[in-house]
Amino acid sequence: MTILITGATGQLGRLIVGHLLQKVEAGQVIACVRHPEKAADFGRLGIEVRYGDYDRPESLAEAFAGGSKLLLISSPHPDDTVRIRQHVHAIEAAKQAKVGHLVYTSFAYPEKSSITLTQLHLATEYAIRTTGIPYTFLRSALYADFLVAIGLKEAAARGELITCPGDWAFNAVTRDDLALAAVAVLTGDGHEQRSYELTAPRSWTFGELAQTVSELTGKPVAHREDPAADSWLYRFLTRIDTSSTSPDLERLIGRGATPLRETVKRLIGAQA
Ligand SMILES: NC(=O)c1ccc[n+]([C@@H]2O[C@H](COP(=O)([O-])OP(=O)(O)OC[C@H]3O[C@@H](n4cnc5c(N)ncnc54)[C@H](OP(=O)(O)O)[C@@H]3O)[C@@H](O)[C@H]2O)c1
Repeated sequence: MTILITGATGQLGRLIVGHLLQKVEAGQVIACVRHPEKAADFGRLGIEVRYGDYDRPESLAEAFAGGSKLLLISSPHPDDTVRIRQHVHAIEAAKQAKVGHLVYTSFAYPEKSSITLTQLHLATEYAIRTTGIPYTFLRSALYADFLVAIGLKEAAARGELITCPGDWAFNAVTRDDLALAAVAVLTGDGHEQRSYELTAPRSWTFGELAQTVSELTGKPVAHREDPAADSWLYRFLTRIDTSSTSPDLERLIGRGATPLRETVKRLIGAQA
């Protein structure tokens, strides 16, 4: 069995490669990257590094040759129309290479929202279905990074978490948990034709988030809603499903998902 991974030099890709090496021989892993010079460390570990750029279909056909499983990590391009084209290049190359199982990093509960981001992921999922290749969709919830964007560090520093008014309920996941889930699928059996909603087991409110920051810093942290806090981020958040939860992530990784407290502690660099 050979496992191909695109985006292997990215933050998620590197975590996946690291966890994969705990389960399979380095010789079974092929890193497909657009900048091979960034993957020199993989080569030293015995991982084959191949050049593959989503914008250069011919490079992908060569990169995927002989692979039995392919993990297609979604493109980070900011234009979702471009991302569709990039993903289709990879999907066509996977079909040409007769890949036996295509695993794709999608987005959680895409049917429950209507933004271009989720349309992109649904479009990619449907494009994969057209190939007839057995597939698994790893539908990730928001990466916990978004907590930094809503002002987590500022809240820890000034003792006040200021958020846009609204009935918010969130879950967020760590890349490391997602990487473990991807490895479970890539190295396990029975995941074909399955979609997994990789969310935290429960959602939480901004009030709970402020309380958690307070416990970690040992200082009071109030939560205040302020219409002036409105930004593109809140408009984005209102249009995706951040509150639905699923046990899929914990089932795949065989333990509890990383708790909110641990994630917040890492993000604010708390000593607590
Ligand atoms: N669920 C969420 O909240 C969330 C948040 C952000 C992103 N995402 C999605 O999850 C994906 C993985 O996340 P991440 O944190 O690992 O992102 P990342 O660190 O930006 O990694 C993206 C990877 O894609 C590669 N890439 C970019 N353009 C490419 C191209 N034209 N051809 C081939 N490879 C290309 C990059 O290569 P280089 O190393 O050469 O740059 C990098 O390895 C992202 O790409 C994005 O689609 C999800």
